[in-house]
Parts: sequence; C-alpha cells; structure tokens
Amino acid sequence: MRVAMSMRRHHRAYAVRAHLLEMSGRFEAAAEDYARAAALSTSIPEQRYLNRRARNAPGARNAEEAWRRREAPGDCAARQRTEQAGMNVFIIGITGGVGGLLAEKLRSHGDAVHGLVRREDQQAGLAAQGVDARVGDLAGMTAEELAAAFAGSDAIVYTAGSNGGSREVTTAIDGDGVAKAIEAARVAGVDRLALVSVLPESWREHDLGEEVEYYFAVKKGADIALTRSDLDWLILRPSLLLDEPGSGTISLGPAEAHGQISRDDVAETLAELLHEPGIGRQILELNAGSTPVREAVRANVRGPLP
Ligand SMILES: NC(=O)c1ccc[n+]([C@@H]2O[C@H](COP(=O)([O-])OP(=O)(O)OC[C@H]3O[C@@H](n4cnc5c(N)ncnc54)[C@H](OP(=O)(O)O)[C@@H]3O)[C@@H](O)[C@H]2O)c1
Repeated sequence: MRVAMSMRRHHRAYAVRAHLLEMSGRFEAAAEDYARAAALSTSIPEQRYLNRRARNAPGARNAEEAWRRREAPGDCAARQRTEQAGMNVFIIGITGGVGGLLAEKLRSHGDAVHGLVRREDQQAGLAAQGVDARVGDLAGMTAEELAAAFAGSDAIVYTAGSNGGSREVTTAIDGDGVAKAIEAARVAGVDRLALVSVLPESWREHDLGEEVEYYFAVKKGADIALTRSDLDWLILRPSLLLDEPGSGTISLGPAEAHGQISRDDVAETLAELLHEPGIGRQILELNAGSTPVREAVRANVRGPLP
C-alpha cells in the first residue's frame, strides 16, 4: 500500500498515465498529468520533455488536424487551430536548398519564420515574402549577436553548411557555427534546436579525399556537441540531397541506409518534426522510402521517458 502511495506521487506514474490518457484522446487530462510529472521530476531534460508534452498535448492534436487537412483560408475553426499551432522558427541557412523549402512549408502552415542571411539583397528578397531576416555572417558573429537574433523564437533550425569549402570554412560553419548556435540558444532561452547533419557512413565505399573526410569529422563533432548540450535538441541526418520534387514518403529512424533523398522531402520531414512534441533529444536518419512523412514522424515518437 505504501509502495502504491509513493508510486502515485512519483513522476513516472504521472508520466505513464499522461501517455495513456493522450493515447485515448483525453488531451486535457494528459496535459495535467504531464505537468504534474514535470513538477516532480528532478531531471532538467526530463522536465523540459514533460513540460513540452504538457504544453502541446491539447493544441498539438488540433495542430496536427489542421496540418493534415490543409484547410482553406476562411475556415474559422481551421484558422483557430492553425493559430494555436503557429510556431516562431528561426532558420540558419534560410537561403539554402533545405532552408528555403522549410521556410515555405512552415509559412504555408501558419508558422512565423525568421532567419539569418549574409547579404542585404537576400534580406530584401525575404522581406518581400513576409520573412524577417537578420544580416550576419556566422563566421564573424558572436554567440551574443546570434542570441539577439534568436529572441522570441520557439525553435531554431540549423541547416547552414559550408558546401564543401576550405577546411577553414568547414570548421567555421559546420563546426564552430553549431557551437555558437548552441550557446546562443542557451543565452536566448530557446530550448529547441534542430540540426541538419549528415549520415556518418555516407559514401564510405568511395575514396573521398582528405577534405571531405575532414567535413565528415567536423559534422560528427557538431552532433556530439549538440547531444551533450542540455537543449531540447534534434539531429536529422539525411542521405545525399537532390533537387527533385518531393515524394511525400520517406524512411526515418535511428538508423537508416544511405541513399538519396529530395531536399523537398527533407524540408517536409523537418517541418513535421518541429510540430511533433513527442520528438526530442533524438538522432534520426532519413532516406527515401515508402512511409508517408507524417506517419514516419509519428512512428518515432517516444513514450514517457523510462
Ligand atoms: N549536399 C548533401 O548531399 C548533403 C547530405 C546530407 C546533409 N547535408 C547537409 O544538409 C544541410 C543543408 O544542405 P543544403 O544543400 O540545403 O545547403 P545549401 O543549399 O548549401 O545552403 C547552405 C546555407 O548555409 C548558409 N551559409 C553558409 N555559410 C554561411 C555563413 N558564413 N553565414 C551564414 N550563413 C551561411 C548559406 O547562405 P548563402 O545563401 O549566403 O550561401 C545557405 O543558406 C547542410 O548542413 C549540409 O551539410 C548535405
């Protein structure tokens, strides 16, 4: 009896009940239990995870519904759901292949998008589309300057890349830039940081040369740094990127084969991942596949932390 009493007070009991309530569609009760579990947990990452689930339990389902149905503008109920779903996302690499497509997808679903650009003409181009961008070069910016740009964001996506430049540029953008973003996210109080990385075994069958090997080593170092942070991080490792129309279907999991995938499918996956409160502190690998994006993302949701 004493054990049962202490279990009732233990955060894991609340977390498990919250998960079951959520699965049975009782979102408000689930949110209450997630919040109780967060208050009782002594682990900061776990508190963040549980609080995120508490915050998103009722709204997330509405958001998912609006997301799936892609209602026409003017549908009042749908607008309300989209507003609830609206996130404020800051994209580093917003002028790049994946970053640009991600911005489009998030905006079309009612999110506010901000980003970092290197040139004023890029800033003006984005402003014409209603996107507020800050001008700055990652290589020269301080973490404090980046933190100022992040202010008010719900999530940060880092999809900048050196694009096979010199070692110096690779270090600055694929390595130090990520470290700076982690530090800036802490300073700005933004928990969620999603990093687009690379499959470590990409093209192991080829002799890639020292420069490319260096790029992979720096990318891996950035993954390690992010996983050791106390942020609510997410690492997405896509296969070779192609500029092709998206298929809407993927293969997503903790370990995937290396192949090819369109940037459009990567952006769609990222957009779904950002909207899924049950995904956090996970490395997910991504390849072309046959599972619809939404379904593949849901399949990677973890239950309450053990
Ligand atoms: N290529 C592949 O097959 C492959 C495979 C797996 C993963 N990835 C990774 O996936 C991510 C996205 O790839 P992508 O092809 O979409 O990239 P991309 O088109 O090359 O875009 C790179 C972005 O990073 C920005 N950037 C570069 N240096 C910067 C700096 N000093 N300051 C600020 N911004 C800077 C670029 O801005 P500008 O417009 O000013 O240049 C651009 O927005 C990258 O991290 C890449 O490493 C690539």
